[in-house]
Amino acid sequence: MQITVKETKDLDYEKVVDIFYEVKFLKNPNKREIYKKTIEKAFKNSQYVVSAWDGNKLIGFARVITDGSLFATIWNMLIKPEYQKQGIGKQLIRKCLNKYPECYFFLFGDKKVVSFYQKSGFEIHRFGMYLKDGPKRCITYN
Ligand SMILES: CC(C)(COP(=O)(O)OP(=O)(O)OC[C@H]1O[C@@H](n2cnc3c(N)ncnc32)[C@H](O)[C@@H]1OP(=O)(O)O)[C@@H](O)C(=O)NCCC(=O)NCCS
Repeated sequence: MQITVKETKDLDYEKVVDIFYEVKFLKNPNKREIYKKTIEKAFKNSQYVVSAWDGNKLIGFARVITDGSLFATIWNMLIKPEYQKQGIGKQLIRKCLNKYPECYFFLFGDKKVVSFYQKSGFEIHRFGMYLKDGPKRCITYN
């Protein structure tokens, strides 16, 4: 299988949203339009979007928000279920890190994927913080 990697925000966002549903990050089928609108805006407002392809089929992606100098965060690292555990996620993380070699990288990971990120050099930070009522205001995730 020949996997290629692209650096572009010009994606078919219906296909992007499909993958969010496939990995069960999104569940409510009635909110698909609002999900698509907010996800497309989030990707387009990110500094860097990297995606993996099997021929012309989108099979995964990740995106970076950064000041380009000091700090960078990785978001929405998703690989289509049938393509997982083949080294593709690790390849996309490597692309993100190599794009901003001078930055400190941070991310939020689900408990289940801690060791995936650890394999790319990340460690758990005991003092990471977030605003607890943030999710209530986020139209996509509430
Ligand atoms: C997490 C995810 C992105 C990993 O992508 P992937 O392409 O399957 O991962 P890779 O094959 O590149 O794995 C790299 C390494 O991490 C390990 N790994 C992969 N998924 C793992 C998991 N869920 N738990 C623990 N280790 C994992 C692999 O065994 C591999 O180890 P190795 O380098 O020793 O061989 C993918 O499983 C996914 O999309 N999951 C659903 C969405 C999700 O939870 N995304 C994370 C957002 S926080």
